[in-house]
Amino acid sequence: MKKLGFLTIALSASVAVAAYAHNGATGIVKERMDAMSAMGNAVKAIAPMMRGEVAYDADAVRAASQSFIDHAGTAMTDLFPEGTGGMPSMATDTVWTDGEEFAELAARLGEYGEGLALASVNPPAMGATMTDMMGTDTMMGADTDAMMGAETAMDAIDFASMPVDAAFEMVSQTCSACHSKYRMESN
Ligand code: HEC
Repeated sequence: MKKLGFLTIALSASVAVAAYAHNGATGIVKERMDAMSAMGNAVKAIAPMMRGEVAYDADAVRAASQSFIDHAGTAMTDLFPEGTGGMPSMATDTVWTDGEEFAELAARLGEYGEGLALASVNPPAMGATMTDMMGTDTMMGADTDAMMGAETAMDAIDFASMPVDAAFEMVSQTCSACHSKYRMESN
């Protein structure tokens, strides 16, 4: 009977999952939420620069890059030990049942974070980016997912000569790729 009561509470709580999200988290779940929030703040700090809404500041971009690097790879995956899913975590079970891509994306975030730091010397080009970077329009029709996903793609990406906003786009796509597969819809 006690067990049933708990289940009912757990089920009704999940309805209000968005509102509850960060609240009530403790221990390692809170730790990873805090790490993610720090990266969210890093993105917010530099996104307006990428759109040309505020003056470009390479130092700020390097500081954000460092935040992505610090929270990537095993620093991230270590915060998701087995058995830490469920309320109030927004992580999906696939983190533990199908986690290969999770680890890959966590590692890629670190690589792209380093790439972003390299690209920080190249002010935003806003829009012209992908075409300039690839040197040809025809690449735009190519399967960019496959291109970005390829293990070898990293070596081919010349971050040092890439406009910073293109590098930023690659970082933020890595956040989204992971969230769309491994984080529940929050809103
Ligand atoms: C490898 C997967 C992965 C990557 C890469 C990733 N995230 Fe997350 N993120 C998650 C998961 C899973 C959660 C849900 C964690 C939980 O609730 O236990 C999350 C949660 C969040 C949250 C909500 C935190 C909270 O307070 O509940 C924010 C904000 C966030 N991520 C921002 C980012 C940003 C910005 C990036 C990229 C710079 C990023 N994440 C990269 C997997 C990832």
